[in-house]
Amino acid sequence: MLQTLSMEGKAVLVTGGGTGLGKAMSLALARAGADVVVAARRQSLIEQTAAEVRALGRRALAIPTDVTDTAQVDRMVQQAREAFGKVDVLINNAGIVRDQRPKPIWEITDDEWRVGIEVNLSSAFYCARAVARDMVDRRSGRIINVASGLGFRGGTDNYMYGAAKGGIINLTRVLATSLSRYGVIVGCIVPGFVTTREPDASSTRAPRNQFIPVGRTGVPMEIGPLAVYLASDASSYMTGETIYLDGGLSHA
Ligand SMILES: NC(=O)c1ccc[n+]([C@@H]2O[C@H](COP(=O)([O-])OP(=O)(O)OC[C@H]3O[C@@H](n4cnc5c(N)ncnc54)[C@H](OP(=O)(O)O)[C@@H]3O)[C@@H](O)[C@H]2O)c1
Repeated sequence: MLQTLSMEGKAVLVTGGGTGLGKAMSLALARAGADVVVAARRQSLIEQTAAEVRALGRRALAIPTDVTDTAQVDRMVQQAREAFGKVDVLINNAGIVRDQRPKPIWEITDDEWRVGIEVNLSSAFYCARAVARDMVDRRSGRIINVASGLGFRGGTDNYMYGAAKGGIINLTRVLATSLSRYGVIVGCIVPGFVTTREPDASSTRAPRNQFIPVGRTGVPMEIGPLAVYLASDASSYMTGETIYLDGGLSHA
């Protein structure tokens, strides 16, 4: 049964794979057998993830990419195909998590709105578009999006992030409805609070932990098994689904 979780022979492309959850998913997928393409803007960080993937005995390629630039996205996918012959799995993980602080709507500029939507929503569309035709032609592929609990709830003054992550959840449904009949399976992970900065002191002591049923913040490695499940044959009859990984927060 565990064989269905094997990623042996599969090529995975992870955006935002130089840090945090993207790095954790890249390494988990490599441990499951995948070759990994890591893409983001900061070259040193994606090179570091690629080196750690190679240390696990898998092939890896770091491609500096701004996922809001469609020419760069298309080139990224082209380079991934040249290196590994195909892209079996796309993980749309890149996002602006901390740089755009919530603020009153009247203080948000056009540029801030556009950047927030471009990075947190449009980039997933651009990357999915770049891989979809080839996946359909091969009758095989996986697209995994990363949303947020704030895609389901209103968050005070969190306009771009909330609107974009809500968009990601429904983009997942549209992609699944449109592409699954051609063998392209689509899923969405909804992380709760996951500490991505080290040292990981906040995972047990943060005041918000009282609102999380399991009583603690998550750690990045906890997203790995879910990413492997959604990327692998084990999830072949699940598509369009959004799965919470939040210690029960959404049910509290
Ligand atoms: N950690 C959590 O608690 C949590 C909760 C809910 C949802 N999420 C979601 O999980 C995903 C990963 O977040 P994280 O917590 O791991 O934060 P993170 O460490 O800040 O990761 C975000 C990644 O996105 C990349 N990125 C940002 N803008 C980009 C651009 N224009 N082009 C290419 N890459 C870009 C960044 O790399 P560069 O700056 O090098 O480009 C970075 O590696 C995000 O989509 C976030 O919304 C996280």
